[in-house]
Amino acid sequence: MTGPFIRIFGLARHYQMGGTTVRALDGVNVDIESHTFTVVMGPSGSGKSSLLYLLGGLDRPTAGEIWVNGERLDTMDENQLAVFRRRAMGFIFQSFNLVQSMSAAENVAFPMQFAGVPAMRRTERSHDLLKQVGLADRSHHKPSELSGGQQQRVAIARALVNDPALILADEPTGNLDTSSGASIMQMLADLHRAGRTVLVVTHDARMMRFATHKIFLLDGHVVSEAEYQSATLDAMSDS
Ligand SMILES: Nc1ncnc2c1ncn2[C@@H]1O[C@H](COP(=O)(O)OP(=O)(O)OP(=O)(O)O)[C@@H](O)[C@H]1O
Ligand SMILES: [Mg+2]
Repeated sequence: MTGPFIRIFGLARHYQMGGTTVRALDGVNVDIESHTFTVVMGPSGSGKSSLLYLLGGLDRPTAGEIWVNGERLDTMDENQLAVFRRRAMGFIFQSFNLVQSMSAAENVAFPMQFAGVPAMRRTERSHDLLKQVGLADRSHHKPSELSGGQQQRVAIARALVNDPALILADEPTGNLDTSSGASIMQMLADLHRAGRTVLVVTHDARMMRFATHKIFLLDGHVVSEAEYQSATLDAMSDS
C-alpha cells in the first residue's frame, strides 16, 4: 500500500448528553508512519482515550475516516472489526483489564481461543510470552495474587499474543509505582525497537525520551507543540 500506516481524517466523536453535545474529538487529522513511537499528550478530558479507542476499533466515530495499514476501520461491521483487532492490534489499558477468575497463563491464552488456536499451542505460546515479560514463575497466579506491575506485564503478554503490528496503550503506567512504571516503559520501547508501531497516551514525562513523534490534544483538537505549551502554561498561571 501507499501512504502512512495510520491515517485519521476528519475524525469526530460526539456524545449526546441530554440536551448537550460533548465534542470529545472534533475534526482530528493525523498521519502516523509505521515503526514509530508516538506519545499522545493532553489535559484530562482532551480526547486522548477517545482517540485511542477509535483507533483500536473499540468504539465508533461520529464522523471521519480511520485507516490502518490500508484498511478502513470506520466502515467495518462488528465482525470485521473484531477480526481486525485480533489480527493487527494489541491494546494495553491503565487498569490492566485482566479477567480476575483466570490465572496469568489463562489470561494470555484467552484471546487465542477466538482465533481458533489449538489448546496445546495456546499453552505453549502463553508460557513463552510470560517468560518474555519475566513472569514464567507466576503463570498460575490470579491477578489478585500479582503486583500492579506484574499485572500490567501479563496484560502486555496478552496484547502480544497475536503478534500485532500496532500496540496501543492508554496510560499504561498510570496505576504503577515509579520503578514498575519504568520497566513497562522499557518494554514498550523494546517492542518499538523490534519493529512494531507504538502509540501511547501518557502523562509520564519519562516516556518522552522514547518518542519519535508527539501528538498534542486540546479540547478534541490536534494542536502544535507551541500552541500546546502556551495553552498549558496559561492554564497553570491562571490557577
Ligand atoms: N461515554 C461518554 N459519554 C459522554 N461523554 C464522554 C464519554 N466518554 C468520554 N466523554 C467525554 O469526552 C471527553 C474526552 O474524554 P476522554 O476520555 O477521551 O479524555 P482523556 O483525554 O482520555 O482524559 P483523561 O486524561 O482524564 O483520561 C471528556 O470531556 C469526557 O467527559
Ligand atoms: Mg483517558
